[in-house]
Parts: sequence; structure tokens; C-alpha cells
Amino acid sequence: MERYDAIVLGAGAAGLMCAAEAGLRGRRVLVIDHAERAGKKILISGGGRCNFTNIGTVPERFLSANPHFARSALSRYTPADFLALVERYGIAWHEKTLGQLFCDGSAKQIVAMLLEEVERGGGTVVCGHGVTDVSHADGQFAVTTTQGRFSAPALVIATGGPSIPRMGATGFAYDLARQFGLKVVEPRPALVPLTLGGDDVLFRELSGVSAEVVASAGGASFREAALFTHRGLSGPAILQVSSFWRHGAPVAVDFLPDRSAEWLLDAKRASPQATLRALLRDVMPDRLANVLAERVGQSGVFAPNDPLGRIADATLRDAGGQLAAWRFHPNGTEGFAKAEVTAGGISTAELSSKTMEAKRVPGLYVVGEAVDVTGWLGGYNFQWAWSSGWAAAQAI
Ligand code: FDA
Repeated sequence: MERYDAIVLGAGAAGLMCAAEAGLRGRRVLVIDHAERAGKKILISGGGRCNFTNIGTVPERFLSANPHFARSALSRYTPADFLALVERYGIAWHEKTLGQLFCDGSAKQIVAMLLEEVERGGGTVVCGHGVTDVSHADGQFAVTTTQGRFSAPALVIATGGPSIPRMGATGFAYDLARQFGLKVVEPRPALVPLTLGGDDVLFRELSGVSAEVVASAGGASFREAALFTHRGLSGPAILQVSSFWRHGAPVAVDFLPDRSAEWLLDAKRASPQATLRALLRDVMPDRLANVLAERVGQSGVFAPNDPLGRIADATLRDAGGQLAAWRFHPNGTEGFAKAEVTAGGISTAELSSKTMEAKRVPGLYVVGEAVDVTGWLGGYNFQWAWSSGWAAAQAI
């Protein structure tokens, strides 16, 4: 049995940050991962450039049964702190949009940086170790893997959530939580494409078309691109609202975010010969304009190519209203296989928000995506991984 001060399960974003910091604070740390290499999700993140933080990080941009839980960790290890680390390693970066910071080069630089930090702190990372048993007795956690047995008075669960299983993601954190009597908030796919059925299925013919919209669900609205896919809806605006969407609820899409409610009436007065189809083609891709013009006119009251001058004001007002709040009725999501993150997870009620330690199991910590804290799209989830990993490291 090899003894350490802390064992971290999971060599992802949160686990590596935690191990590096705890090591730099003088702790002897072992990181165990079942994958063949560390930081696999970091490597594929941000299209290979890793959107490593968001400078607009505020607790309100995270979902959790306890919306205040993330506040402490996020305020003690901030985007500026991570950026300082990135700069210390000479990693070039840029802000893309909406406060999202990416590497200029490659996400590999972030993984290399974290591994070097772990090494600097004297920590050890072992990959390809399947964890077969975890037990706890006399203040010591014993971890048995396919390659050996290890023990420590502190155990950090940093094995993430089950989104993208082909990357090695598992629900292992929840199994461990249950083993130690910790509650788990029902995990569900988040930042995930939505699927369309029923009448909405006709929109699938728009596969590949994208447009800037305001998408709304569950009380949240996002103005970004929406993308039609062969299964339904995707693109940043849809991924964002997917985290708030619940089965059975509609998603409202404003296809005319820059037009006033009176736009069609103004257009009718200015050019009565213009058609709805032509007007829409001026502000969105042709294929989308065609489908929307046809479906708005589907009531039979007017046809897509009718001159606006021949359509009653009330009908046009109604059409404008529909286009500004198009109601889709998703019949599901593309599931964990395509979800960028998992919402839900180990209940924050079980953990100290300052140290991430389980209130009922001293020495047991949970960090990163395994916790019921889920960020918006745009670097927030990595910031949570860094902040929560760092917070636990201060307590180990
Ligand atoms: P993470 O998943 O990073 O690490 C968990 C580790 O535990 C893995 O190494 C895994 O192999 C290991 N593990 C799992 N089960 C185990 C077991 N049973 N035994 C041992 N080890 C086990 N976020 C963001 O902020 N910006 C971005 O650009 C992106 N981009 C992005 C793209 C894609 C395609 C995905 C899928 C996700 C993102 N994300 C993102 C989300 C981000 O990757 C995610 O929130 C963090 O990686 C979570 O960090 P964790 O360390 O908690 O888990």
C-alpha cells in the first residue's frame, strides 16, 4: 500500500488544478485516471483551442440547486488568477467574443501547463488505472486500482460527469457519492443539441442553416447563432437554453432580434408590393426565409408571395409576433453522447462551498463537473473546474 497525503481521482481540469495546488502547498499527491492520458476533454475543448475561462464570470452564470454555492470558490480563484498562470507559461491567448478566452495555439498547452504544475508540486499522475474499490476506515481512504493499492487521509472526487462517454466520461463520481451517503441531484445532459419531432420535423430540411436569434427557455434567453441540424436544433443559442429546458416545455426563438413588432407594417406602408418571403430573405438565409414565410402563411390567410399591401394589418402583426417568438416543441436532447456538460450531480447541500469537503465525510472532497454546478457555454465550466479544484487544495 503506497501512502499519500491526498489521492485525486480524475486527471481532468479540476483534478489537475487541485493536485498542482495541493502539491505546491507541500502535500504529497497522487492523481489516478482510468484513461490512457490526462486532460482528454481539455484537449478537445474549444475546437482544440480550449476556451479556458470567461472574463465575465459571475455566479449568476452557473446553474445549481443552490445558486449561491459557486460564489465562494469563484471569488477566491478568479479568471484573472488562471489567466496569470497561462501568461506565466507564455501561452498566447485571445478573447473571441462575449468574454471567452481561447489559446492562440492549442489546448495541448493547457494540459502541458497543468501537468508541469503538478510536477512542480511534486505530485504524481498515473493513467490507465481502473479504480476497482474505494474504502474508508480509521480516517484513511484506500483506493484499489487495476495496478495497485494506495491510501491517504484525503480523497478528491474529480471524475467529472457522464457527458461524452467515448472520451472516458463516466458516472463514477455519483456511484462514489452514493457509497458515502451523499445525495445526487438527477444528472441530465446540458449544453446539448435539441431534437425535433411532430410538426417541427419539417425544419429538419434546413439542416446546415444558421441564423442569429434570441432563444428562450425556462426563463433564460440568449442571443447567439442557432443552427438547424438533421435531428433538430443546435448552435450556441440552443446549447445555452438546453441547460434550462425541461422535457415538455417549448423553446421560443426570435428570428427577428433586430426588428420591431411593427416592422412588417412599416414595410407594408413603405413598399406594398414587397412580399414576406423577400423581406425575410433580406435579414436571414434564403432557405430559412422560405420555410418561415411558408409556415407563417400556412393558415391560408396569405401566401408567401402575396404583396404585403394585400394583407390585413392585423394578419401582419400576427405574423410578426410569430416570427419573434416561434415556438418549437423539442421532443428530447441528443443525450449525454453529445452533451458538452452534465447538469445536476453531487448535491451542493452535502459540501462546504469554501472547501468542497463533504460535510458528513471529513477528508472527502468533490470538485469540478461532478458537483451540481453547471456553467453557461463559453469558458465558465473550466473556470468552475479551476476554482473548485483550487478551493479544495487550500483545505487538504
Ligand atoms: P473532466 O471530465 O475534465 O475530467 C474527469 C477525469 O476523470 C477524466 O480524465 C476521466 O478520464 C476521469 N475519470 C472518469 N471516470 C473515471 C473512473 N471511473 N476512474 C478514474 N478516472 C475516471 N468547457 C469550457 O469551459 N470551455 C470549453 O471550451 C469547453 N469545451 C468543451 C468541449 C467538449 C467537446 C466537451 C465535451 C466539453 C467542453 N467543456 C468546455 C466542458 C469541460 O470540458 C468540462 O466542464 C470540464 O472538463 C470538467 O472538468 P472536470 O475535471 O470536472 O472533469
